[in-house]
Amino acid sequence: MNNWTFFREAVRNFRSTGAIARASPLLIKRLIEAVPSHRPLRVIELGPGDGCITTALLDRLHPGSTLTAFEINPVFVRRLQQLPDSRLHVHSVGAERLSEHFAPQSIDFVVSSLPLSMIPQEVKEEIIRQSQRVLRPGGQFLQYQYALQDYGLLKDSFNRVNVSFTLANLPPAFVYSCSLGLS
Ligand SMILES: C[S@@+](CC[C@H](N)C(=O)[O-])C[C@H]1O[C@@H](n2cnc3c(N)ncnc32)[C@H](O)[C@@H]1O
Repeated sequence: MNNWTFFREAVRNFRSTGAIARASPLLIKRLIEAVPSHRPLRVIELGPGDGCITTALLDRLHPGSTLTAFEINPVFVRRLQQLPDSRLHVHSVGAERLSEHFAPQSIDFVVSSLPLSMIPQEVKEEIIRQSQRVLRPGGQFLQYQYALQDYGLLKDSFNRVNVSFTLANLPPAFVYSCSLGLS
């Protein structure tokens, strides 16, 4: 899928997409740099869109890993389902239902590019709660955002929150790396 197709979907569904361009390669690199490649991991991706982070994750992840994606836009879901990688599982349901699919403390990383600032407060709190529930001790919740609106929510939800900033995206973005401890 090219940038134009992503732009068209973003304009059609602006409230749920929350961006008019995909994450840049440098932002993606920053977002997932903490994900190790040397051992099998169980990873969840929230809001993969057309798969720009998904493909970078699949390139990075150990062959024994799994990557489960939750995406609500059916055009993006069809696109993701065409990615030829048996480690990838795509669910066409909202991220607020993620814990239906996993045991507590069974996931190493939740990688999210959900447009948190556009998601109703009670829904995003539920997504964070469910992410906490499925993450292993020491597991991480990784998220980028164009402003710091949800820094407070993440600070209240996780024991450790690191924030970095990158100009290498349009618009520039903040990258959060959050854990419940023991990282
Ligand atoms: C900003 S786009 C991110 C696209 C791509 N991952 C990137 O970083 O460029 C946000 C994506 O989240 C999806 N989305 C929005 N709300 C969602 C929800 N509750 N559950 C799952 N996906 C959602 C949208 O359909 C869209 O594809």
